[in-house]
Amino acid sequence: MRKTLYNVNFVQSLEGSLDSAHSDFLHSAETSASGDYDQDQVHSDGRRSRPSTDTSPEIDVRETEFGFVYGAIRKAMADPEKLTYVRATAYALPFYSMIPPVYMQASVPLDSENTAMYLVWYDNEHPLSPVEVKAHETFLGLRMGEDLLPDYRRPGRADNRWFQDREGIKSGKTYTGLYGTTMQDIAVQESMGPVQDRTIEHLGMTDKAIVHMRRMLLATARQIRDGMEPEIPALNSDYRQVRSAAATINRGDDWWEKLYGAASTASLEKGV
Ligand SMILES: [Fe+2]
Repeated sequence: MRKTLYNVNFVQSLEGSLDSAHSDFLHSAETSASGDYDQDQVHSDGRRSRPSTDTSPEIDVRETEFGFVYGAIRKAMADPEKLTYVRATAYALPFYSMIPPVYMQASVPLDSENTAMYLVWYDNEHPLSPVEVKAHETFLGLRMGEDLLPDYRRPGRADNRWFQDREGIKSGKTYTGLYGTTMQDIAVQESMGPVQDRTIEHLGMTDKAIVHMRRMLLATARQIRDGMEPEIPALNSDYRQVRSAAATINRGDDWWEKLYGAASTASLEKGV
């Protein structure tokens, strides 16, 4: 687990966690498309393989007791006409996200303009080896003593442009000039200012999950504004149900049933 401080409002950080589409661009240097893998995997060199080159995922949101799960559905490399690669990300109110293959993020608000990000990675089958831990640290750009200081702050900040490697961009060595996926997220989120002006944004079809999250949080905020006790069923739901998943499935199959199975569908899907 790593903790780091983001100089942004916690919703801005959550928006990054719940946006599958940006990964194809912002994190492209860490990701290589490969038809050899059924799911995306982080390898010992800190790079990830993903079985798709499709940069326009279709987003399908399913509400649950704890919040929602959304599927980001892409054409699969192996057979783009017949297969789809689905990444299912879970959002649990108020600030948790589970991102495939093995990441949990908690965007905990410290105040209106600062967030403590807790980033956890794991393996369901066995304890992580030192080599695996190092691979994830490199992939994320969260190496203690290099990317992170002991007080959870970062050497790379807005006032030094997050150490962006402009020469590396020119030479084609790196797409963003930033090394490590979390560092790329931080630079993008902080460069918008601590509270982005949502009145000038242009949302698209790949922002459906972000819109959904905002509506849920706004409904709660309005209840508090109106002097009501907020109703947050998520706080009483079983958080062990909050799981991410990813798989390549046949086009036309129900991703929800394929990834979570018929048995868990009933307990996951809201009101069923
Ligand atoms: Fe990201």
